[in-house]
Amino acid sequence: MIVEPKVKGFICTTAHPVGCQKNVENQVAYVKERKHIEGAKKVLVLGASTGYGLASRITTAFGMGAATIGVAFEREASGKRTATPGYYNTKSFDEEAKKNGLYAKSFNGDAFSVEMKEQVIQTIKEDLGKVDLIVYSLAAPRRTTKDGITHNSVLKTTESDFTQKNWNLKDDSISDATIPVATQEEIQETIKVMGGEDWMDWMDALVEADVVEENAITVAYSYIGPKLTYPIYHEGTIGMAKKHLSDSAVAITNKYASKNIRGYVSVNKALVTQASAAIPVVPLYLAILYKVMKEKNIHEGCIEQMYRLFSDKIYTGMQLCVQEDGMLHVDDWEMREDVQNEVMDIWGKINSENLLTYADTKGYWDDFYHMFGFQVEGVDYTLDVEV
Ligand code: NAI
Repeated sequence: MIVEPKVKGFICTTAHPVGCQKNVENQVAYVKERKHIEGAKKVLVLGASTGYGLASRITTAFGMGAATIGVAFEREASGKRTATPGYYNTKSFDEEAKKNGLYAKSFNGDAFSVEMKEQVIQTIKEDLGKVDLIVYSLAAPRRTTKDGITHNSVLKTTESDFTQKNWNLKDDSISDATIPVATQEEIQETIKVMGGEDWMDWMDALVEADVVEENAITVAYSYIGPKLTYPIYHEGTIGMAKKHLSDSAVAITNKYASKNIRGYVSVNKALVTQASAAIPVVPLYLAILYKVMKEKNIHEGCIEQMYRLFSDKIYTGMQLCVQEDGMLHVDDWEMREDVQNEVMDIWGKINSENLLTYADTKGYWDDFYHMFGFQVEGVDYTLDVEV
């Protein structure tokens, strides 16, 4: 069938299999052109199908020659309904790995569940023995815990209502959006979903089953961003969860010190992914940031970020490049003073009339459509495809 984008708010309900395949091939090509990273050999990636997790898997496989196991939660196609992009990405990744003689096994299901942990552990035991890197890159709206209770995350502030400029994606206008303050219960729920509890559960289960090498590293991803977005991000409900994630990194390192298994958080750059497009205020910041960073020739996508993380910050050949706050930072270029000054200057004057001049709205939409396999160069969208 011919697959076209169907955009509803911040989500596209269709995905193009050939476009997704091309995206994966492009990322693989990017990594293969770069120098080999002497790093991990056997890698588990949780949240491996899109965004930062997919880029991490591609970097470790094609940049380090690592065997990878990936876990993601994606919908298959049914009838006229296409699968989700992550489904096609994973299929394409598996094919690329096979072509290159790399071990790859992918699981589609709930990473929060005990069953998934057991299945993955069994596979590590049978196929790899042990892993030496675990990437935790889940972004989920809900999590069902062992007791059968489902927790839902919310994107709200924690102190008081917060009003800020917002880009209405439907009509390219700018107006104020107010983000309400969360209840204590909502904060705790968001921590349950996006905090580090499940990361620790994974590490406990893996170490208990003796499938983690000594000196192994585990890394999870976070975001801080500028003061402007603090109320909705860093100091919002999601920020509280990220604080828990950072504390969990320290807890992992302390708990498994005898095996020198270390937990880290990497603070990444703000990028258009399915997770970030859903946060109010953030898309406008992204479009301005893209404009400024592209003009300075320092713009990066997920694959550039993850290649830099693994080559320049983690597997440096010497010590890990950890900053004073104990975290790894590939948001360093985003947070550069000259970049932030220009972004804030634009933020102050941007309105519905000058939006297209001051913000890279095209860059935002390009990334958005690419995520679902649309508008990808070299793909003929008039052709019938098997979904
Ligand atoms: P994404 O939405 O592209 O990827 C999320 C991944 O999690 C997908 O592979 C999805 O299948 C998987 N997943 C979701 N629920 C699952 C479940 N129950 N079981 C198994 N897999 C599940 O998100 P993105 O943006 O790559 O986020 C990954 C991490 O990076 C998150 O922790 C996010 O907060 C962080 N981050 C994102 C930034 C951004 O601007 N996008 C910036 C800095 C950090």
